[in-house]
Amino acid sequence: MNLNPCENILIQSGIDQPQQIKCIRQADLDENIQTLTEIQSNWVTQNQFSAKKQSYIRIPNNANQDIIWLGIGAGSVLDLRDSSAWLSQQLAIGIYAFDTAEDHFELGLGWALGQYQFDRYLSERKEKNQLVINDEIRPKITEIGNGLFLARDLINTPTNDMGPSHLSEVVQAVASQYEAEFTEILDQELLDKGYRTIYTVGMAADNRPRLLELKWGNDDAPKVTLVGKGVCFDTGGLDIKPGAGMLIMKKDMGGAAHALALATMVMSAKLNINLRVLLPAVENSISSNAFRPGDVIKTYKGTTVEIGNTDAEGRLILCDALALGGEDKPDLMIDFATLTGAARVAMGADVVPFFTDDEDLASGLAEHSAAVSDPLWRLPLYKGYESQLKSTIADLNNISSSPFGGAITAGLFLKNFVPEKTTWAHIDLYGWNQSDKATCHKGGQSMAIHAVFSYLASL
Ligand code: BES
Ligand code: ZN
Ligand code: ZN
Repeated sequence: MNLNPCENILIQSGIDQPQQIKCIRQADLDENIQTLTEIQSNWVTQNQFSAKKQSYIRIPNNANQDIIWLGIGAGSVLDLRDSSAWLSQQLAIGIYAFDTAEDHFELGLGWALGQYQFDRYLSERKEKNQLVINDEIRPKITEIGNGLFLARDLINTPTNDMGPSHLSEVVQAVASQYEAEFTEILDQELLDKGYRTIYTVGMAADNRPRLLELKWGNDDAPKVTLVGKGVCFDTGGLDIKPGAGMLIMKKDMGGAAHALALATMVMSAKLNINLRVLLPAVENSISSNAFRPGDVIKTYKGTTVEIGNTDAEGRLILCDALALGGEDKPDLMIDFATLTGAARVAMGADVVPFFTDDEDLASGLAEHSAAVSDPLWRLPLYKGYESQLKSTIADLNNISSSPFGGAITAGLFLKNFVPEKTTWAHIDLYGWNQSDKATCHKGGQSMAIHAVFSYLASL
């Protein structure tokens, strides 16, 4: 897996003269037209260039290179990102640069996202359109862009190449790139050490369950623990999923992908953080030794869970990882998971709900989400629903007795395993894009981590 894919898209200025692109806001169009020759301004009006978002025009310029104008609408962060991404797909393969007072970070990030393609299995790979970005801004874009690409690549890779063992290899490659410490608790060892939920969900699969861990940073720095749901494929287990729902379940390790991608951002930006990443990695498979509805599992924390449905497996593997993550009293713990269909019903695919009881964390995440245009929205860990997780024979059931509020009850389930004093947020993301957008093709999509990275960088 390429850990530095943006290097090939966002480049330093070299010998070649890049073609210059000017950004035009709708409100400034007339003013810009006045700077042109008469022939050129006629050309712009005759071609009905309006400078709306995602529009462009090439203006002939005598013997010189054509002038390229990119419409950016009102010039918001998203207007810049989307327009730049879109333009990178319209222009012939070449080397370009923006000649504009607009934000080069957003233009560069948009361009890189527009050039992302998951081409691992394609016999013919498209060349990338390259953008010259100055040395000051390029590292800031690539630390984020490379992370966003990593999450997408991991999600897009099908399970035959991205089972628990493959995910482990990627975490090891990341650890070695950033000189982080890697450990893995594998298969039977999970049972010996008490991580029975992780073992149980993954025990039916040939590719054996494991708990991956990465540690990085200074012991004196604030301790931040990231946890990610790594269900490399979710058949639903014996409470099997219908075919249409199962089709995209290679993405069910999206939480682990996001936690790892965020870790790469933190490490490449060298944030002053003592980082710990915990990724339970399993395949929720079907076999004669698969766990069953009605089984009771003793968790790492010591409490018991009755299995109401084997398809609610994410919260099971997370509960042991969260209990472990809480042991060394981190200053902050955040988990990422493709946890519930109910979160999608409530918020749609793109708006990502987060859950926390910590008001400062909630306002910090909301603020940074807005600042970087990476949509996060708080949902409540409403105590009144806790009783819906009751079991008659165990301490908890893994599903709610009610068909409503499934994203909240899943969050409440997890909360049982986080020590009360730990500042914690749970993020329930989709990790998938259902149709092509300028900044992301249909398929794996990275979400929430740009906002969380921005928040962590502000601490
Ligand atoms: N991986 C799914 C959640 C999911 C489904 C995310 C579709 C995104 C799209 C999870 O393991 C699951 O199956 N959850 C069940 C829980 C239910 C059985 C209580 C769900 O949401 O339907
Ligand atoms: Zn499931
Ligand atoms: Zn799942």
